[in-house]
Amino acid sequence: MTNKKFYIESYGCAMNFADSEIVNSILMENGNDPVEQPELADIILINTCSIRDNAETKIWNRLKFFRSIKRQNKNLTVGVLGCMAERVRERFLEREKLVDLVVGPDAYRQIPQLLEEVESGQKAVNVILSLEVTYADITPVRLGGNGVSAFVSIMRGCDNMCSFCVVPFTRGRERSRATDSILDEIKQLSDQGYKEVTVLGQNVNSFNDNGTRFADLMYKASLVDPEMRLRFSTSHPKDFPDELLHLINEQKNICNYIHIPAQSGNNEVLRRMRRPYTREQYLALLDNMRNIIPGVTLSTDIITGFCGETEEEHQDTLSLMDTVKFDMAYLFSYSERERTLAHRKFEDDVPADVKQRRLQEIIDVHRAGANERNQAEIGKRHLVLAENFSKRSENQLSGRTDSGKVVIFDKKSFKPGDYLEVVINEANSATLFGEALKLTSIREFEPELVTA
Ligand code: SAH
Ligand code: SF4
Ligand code: F3S
Repeated sequence: MTNKKFYIESYGCAMNFADSEIVNSILMENGNDPVEQPELADIILINTCSIRDNAETKIWNRLKFFRSIKRQNKNLTVGVLGCMAERVRERFLEREKLVDLVVGPDAYRQIPQLLEEVESGQKAVNVILSLEVTYADITPVRLGGNGVSAFVSIMRGCDNMCSFCVVPFTRGRERSRATDSILDEIKQLSDQGYKEVTVLGQNVNSFNDNGTRFADLMYKASLVDPEMRLRFSTSHPKDFPDELLHLINEQKNICNYIHIPAQSGNNEVLRRMRRPYTREQYLALLDNMRNIIPGVTLSTDIITGFCGETEEEHQDTLSLMDTVKFDMAYLFSYSERERTLAHRKFEDDVPADVKQRRLQEIIDVHRAGANERNQAEIGKRHLVLAENFSKRSENQLSGRTDSGKVVIFDKKSFKPGDYLEVVINEANSATLFGEALKLTSIREFEPELVTA
């Protein structure tokens, strides 16, 4: 299938957005052209997420909207990619005839062939998961990005089997991409003028390319371009070597920000979640991070209302949030997923209104802590990479500090892609506001002395 116009819409985590860039590349290699609106397309692809029930509801609604476009254009092909394709599979084709094509995360190379099948009047499905596919040889095509920051996938799948999580079933076994292909991609991005790369995996700390571990990879990546910022996501608390913490502290272009999901502050809940660490070990790890990397910022994920969670267990999560005072946090109500261990073994027995109330309490404690940390930024200077024009005003830019905090400031004569010295003069729990003082660079910028 060639000379078609295609449109891709992506949902879910950064890995899905990175995968859509791989699909762009595959379709464009085959002579198809991207368009920015679904109404203009011959092929609409939706890259989906299954992590919580509401993520899937959003996709079903979107598919109904695409069907309304299909009524106007009988030749339109609608395809589902990603985690929900892997989970729902053939049932997509049966339900309300919304979809012609279903492709799981490891089968994107087959999309051109599958589109041929659709064209010849068949419904096409490939949801085979692989032990090897990493798409290492495909150069992602980054459409519609800001040209400043990019995602680079370094591994696929997950072997951790946390009892609540559908990802091991939708993404398959964990596998690492070849180190050289990762470094080559970072070099290409640097040559194209990108200033920031976030390397991605469900648990980057378990990266292992024939003995090259994550810290080795980050060290090599940090040498590619000293003016290229490096971030990484996500780290699992079960394996975070000190070596990596020292590396983050030493290499100026590896950002001082760690996303380290706790999920719960209670040991019994952690055990039921199959998260192999205790609250005490988690807190000790965070202390270690703050000691080795002065000024490091920390963020977390929390699930509230997991199977059997008592009021006391919930209180432990509140006290964890209050003790750590995370700079950022992603907070969720538990949503039961089929096939997971929790679905097979436990009962989803916390009522929806209790989940909601507990979630709100966690949000409140988090906001108070984050606000306190952000107020302490007032008066400080930061190295900010300008990334985009602010959503509120074209006269303002938004960027992030090395520590990952969003800063809004007047544009003056600066532009996205500039490294700026910014002084912070206002803050709330989610955003800093400041004034850009001058252009600078990673090497030139002198950070404030931070005492731990
Ligand atoms: N691999 C990453 C995160 C993957 S999913 C990690 O291990 O940290 C992102 C977040 O979604 C998880 O950290 C978890 O907090 C949340 N999540 C996963 N499954 C969920 C479920 N069934 N219900 C609610 N939240 C869930
Ligand atoms: Fe899911 Fe756990 Fe794997 Fe993260 S580490 S993707 S939460 S199974
Ligand atoms: Fe969603 Fe799949 Fe990512 S379930 S969070 S898109 S790995």
